[in-house]
Amino acid sequence: MKISFAEPKVPTRGIVVLGVGAKNKLSSQAVRIDKQVDGALSRAVAAARFTGKLGEHIAVLAPAGRKNASYLLVGTAEAKEFGDLNAQTFGAGVVRAVQAVGGSDATILMDAPDGAPADLDDLAAHLAYGAKLRSYDYDKYKTGAAGTNNKKDPVRSLTIMVPRPAVARRRYSPLAAIADGVEFSRNLVSEPSNVKTPKWMSAQCRKLSKLGVKVEVMGEAQMRKLRMHALLGVGQGSVQESQCVVMRWDGGKPKGKSVALVGKGVTFDTGGISIKPASGMEDMIWDMGGAGTVIGAMYALAGRKAKANVVGVVGLVENMPDGNAQRPGDIVKSMSGQTIEVINTDAEGRLVLADMLWYTQKRFKPDAMIDLATLTGAVMVALGREYAGLYANKDSLAEGIINAGKAVGEKLWHLPLDPAYDKQINTPRADMKNVGPRWGGSITAAQFLQRFTNGLDWAHLDIAGVAWSDTDRPLMARGATGFGVRALDRFVRDNYEGK
Ligand code: BES
Ligand code: MN
Ligand code: ZN
Repeated sequence: MKISFAEPKVPTRGIVVLGVGAKNKLSSQAVRIDKQVDGALSRAVAAARFTGKLGEHIAVLAPAGRKNASYLLVGTAEAKEFGDLNAQTFGAGVVRAVQAVGGSDATILMDAPDGAPADLDDLAAHLAYGAKLRSYDYDKYKTGAAGTNNKKDPVRSLTIMVPRPAVARRRYSPLAAIADGVEFSRNLVSEPSNVKTPKWMSAQCRKLSKLGVKVEVMGEAQMRKLRMHALLGVGQGSVQESQCVVMRWDGGKPKGKSVALVGKGVTFDTGGISIKPASGMEDMIWDMGGAGTVIGAMYALAGRKAKANVVGVVGLVENMPDGNAQRPGDIVKSMSGQTIEVINTDAEGRLVLADMLWYTQKRFKPDAMIDLATLTGAVMVALGREYAGLYANKDSLAEGIINAGKAVGEKLWHLPLDPAYDKQINTPRADMKNVGPRWGGSITAAQFLQRFTNGLDWAHLDIAGVAWSDTDRPLMARGATGFGVRALDRFVRDNYEGK
C-alpha cells in the first residue's frame, strides 16, 4: 500500500474517509460534503447503530450528487483522547474498512475536531503508521488458483490530506522505518520451516547490511572453536547447519552506552527426542520469534538511523529427532564452562540462549542485555495471549522496558526471579539441569538463563504467548505479530539515544 500526504481538497473519486466524533458529531469536512449529497451522510449515521467509537465505521457508497466518490465514516471517539495510539488505531481501522468494502484507493480528509491538538502533523503521521502496520498481509503462498478464494485484493493507495503535508511526511519517516522493521520480522516468523532453515535466516540477516548494519555469520565450525556446546547439542540432530548471527548498529557516540538484544531462533522445534505431540506442532514454525524480533528491531533502528549503539545476536538452530540427536540424560558443557544435564530435549531454547548470552556479555560488555524467546508454554498458562512475561535482575531495567511497551501498546508483565526457584534446577549429575519441576516453568527457565548473564544488567522476555496471534487485533491482522520490535525501538529511543 502506497501512503502519501497531500494538502486538503475534497476528492471527487475513490473512497473518502471522514471522521465522526462521539455522539455522532460529523467533522466539519463531513458537514460540507453532507450538504452536497443531500444529507446522505447524516442519514446513514442516524440509521445505523453507530456511536462514533474509535475505529467503528459505516460506508456510504456512490450517493447521488457525488456519485464517483464513496464515503467511509469512521469513529474518532472523544477528540481530546485522541493521542498517538488512538491515531494508529484509527488509521488501522480505515484500512480494515476499505478492505471490507473492497476499495483500492482511499483518501483521509483530516480536520481538527473540537478540542484536538491544533497541529495535526503528528496525528497524521501516526495514522499513516497504524494504516501501514495493519495493511500487512502474508499472502506469499496464496496463488489465487482456481477453486481457492483466499487471495484478497490489497488496498493500493492511501492519501492523507492534512494542512501541512510536508511536516507530516517528515514526522512519518521514522515511524515508517519502524513499521518496515515490524514487517521484516513478521515475514521471517511467517515463513514455513521447509524454507526457513538456520542458513536461510542468516541470509536474511545479511540483508541488513544495506541499512548500514555490520553483519557477521558464524557456522558450526566457528561455534565449536568457541565451545558453544549447549547450542550445538540442540542442532546436532538436524541436517541443517546451526548459525549464529551478530548484527551491529553503531549509531551512537563512539565509546557511548550500548545495549545488546539476544534472540532465540529455533527455526522448527519438534521437541527433539523428547518429541512433541502431533497436535499443534505446526505452531513451532514460529519458535524463532525471539530472533525475529531482534532482527526486526535492528532493521527498525538502522532504518531510522537511531543515535544509539545496539548489538543484536541470534542463535539459529533446528531441533530435530535423529540418529545423531542429543538424548535425555546427555551432559553438555556450555561456553561459560558450566555443565548442563539435558533432562528434556524439548527445553532447547534455554540451551541456545545460554551460549548466546554468555558470548554476548563476554565479547561486547554492553551496559545491558535483553533476550527475547518463545521459551515456555508455561508463560501462556500464566498470561495467555495478551502479555509477555518479563524478568530482570534490576528493577529499573524492567520498568524501562515495561514503560516503553506501554507507550507503543505492547504489554509486558513483570514476573519474579528468586534463589528459591533457582535451586530447583540443581542436579546431582552436573552444574544444573535444563528443566525444573512442573510448576513455575517460565520462572525456572528464566533462572536458568540468569546463570549465563555473568551478573550483567539483564532482562528476559518470554514471548511464547504473543509472538503469534490467532485472532485479528486492531493494529495487526492475525498471524505473526512482530511483538517487541516497537517496544525495543522505543526502549532504545528513551534510554540510549544520544547517551
Ligand atoms: N518452543 C517451546 C515453547 C512454546 C510452546 C512456544 C508453545 C510457543 C508455543 C519450548 O521450546 C518448549 O518446548 N518448552 C517446553 C519446556 C518444558 C519441556 C520444560 C514447554 O514449555 O513445554
Ligand atoms: Mn521446545
Ligand atoms: Zn522451543
